[in-house]
Amino acid sequence: LRRVLGLRSIVLVGLMGAGKSTVGRRLATRLGLLFKDADNEIEAAAGLTIPDIFAIYGEPSFRDGEERVITRLLRAGPLVLATGGGAYLRPATREHIRERGISVWLKADLDVLMRRVRKRGNRPLLQTEDPEATMRALMEVRHPVYAEADIVVMSRDVSQDRVVEDVMEALV
Ligand code: S3P
Repeated sequence: LRRVLGLRSIVLVGLMGAGKSTVGRRLATRLGLLFKDADNEIEAAAGLTIPDIFAIYGEPSFRDGEERVITRLLRAGPLVLATGGGAYLRPATREHIRERGISVWLKADLDVLMRRVRKRGNRPLLQTEDPEATMRALMEVRHPVYAEADIVVMSRDVSQDRVVEDVMEALV
């Protein structure tokens, strides 16, 4: 599989709670590739947490930083890269991903996403009165864009190892 991939990276896209970081880390181990989480890299570069970056600089600045970080990481590839849920929405970022990697949309149902995001309350976009309605609205806007990814894998409500296997199968 490494030979098939050549110098291309695997880039996981999809909504918050889709399992991009967990699946990505395990996938990288399986493939013997480096794993990076774009959100963590942004936090390290900024010296701030993502909620703080949103609060202090606003979402547009976060998106600029996100694009820079993803471009830098992909240039240093090949690697497995978990992106933040909004990254793939920006055309320039999408183009970098298309040039350097194989994109994998981890698609999940609303209830699965909600169950997972409730475990980690660090998503500024979901700090709304009705997070589930917000997530539903995000699904509506973003799903058509995520659908441009090279591969779609259902992030089912089973062990993440099974999802990793599904991604491996979809890649060959
Ligand atoms: C965002 C998703 C988050 C993070 C930021 C914005 C989004 O990443 O980048 O809170 O726009 O969907 P995860 O998808 O890893 O939660």
